[in-house]
Amino acid sequence: MRAEFWHERWEKSEIGFHQPDFNTYMQKFIGRLELRKAAHVLVPLCGKSLDMLWLAEQGYRVTGIELSERAAKDFFAENKLSCEIVERGGMKIYRGVDIEIWCADFFAVNTTDSAEIDAVYDRAALVALPPEMRPSYTGQLTDLIRSGVAILLITLDYPQEEMKGPPFSVSPSEVQDLFQANFEIEYLWGEERLSAEPRFRKKGLTRMDEHVFILRKNGLPASKF
Ligand SMILES: C[S@@+](CC[C@H](N)C(=O)[O-])C[C@H]1O[C@@H](n2cnc3c(N)ncnc32)[C@H](O)[C@@H]1O
Repeated sequence: MRAEFWHERWEKSEIGFHQPDFNTYMQKFIGRLELRKAAHVLVPLCGKSLDMLWLAEQGYRVTGIELSERAAKDFFAENKLSCEIVERGGMKIYRGVDIEIWCADFFAVNTTDSAEIDAVYDRAALVALPPEMRPSYTGQLTDLIRSGVAILLITLDYPQEEMKGPPFSVSPSEVQDLFQANFEIEYLWGEERLSAEPRFRKKGLTRMDEHVFILRKNGLPASKF
């Protein structure tokens, strides 16, 4: 998906992916990551997700990465959070007390920018990308995090021929293929979701499931060396 596609979605407020409530899988499963207080959670392709707010309310530090500056602006304005705007390495950062949104192409962020990441939360990020971009996404995530760091990943799975993404269908076996070389994969949950999402039935889907995984990067955590 090219940057212009997403900028246009934001310009036209065609953001059906934005959830008005906190994600229930995140709330249910984040504890399984066993994060320390004030852990630093990375939210790639974050949009203006309210989940960042919930994570901050739990005491975590949050960094979102998002192409659209409009999303960053809206996030702080709509949630009545103060922020400063700083520039670093050619990128604009909207910096609040415990939430930052980096206005950047996720694929262009480098490891020195993200040394302190303790966990990753992916809802509607991997599934926002077409098949040919997913290996690069997995590769970039792998480069950004240390061994031992875990990703809480939520995916959608539906007959791809019934709907043009995004969101795209990413099956559990594709998650396996994408991550198994560098991650230990724990399958946490799966359930039928079409009945709760009539907008997707209207688009022609006959089946849609959501799946939740914890992916932990292989190798010893840095602190054990
Ligand atoms: C489907 S939305 C999901 C947003 C958010 N995760 C949520 O749950 O609401 C995908 C978001 O990724 C952003 N995006 C797409 N490609 C990106 C990239 N290469 N780098 C950073 N953000 C990107 C889009 O602007 C869009 O806001």
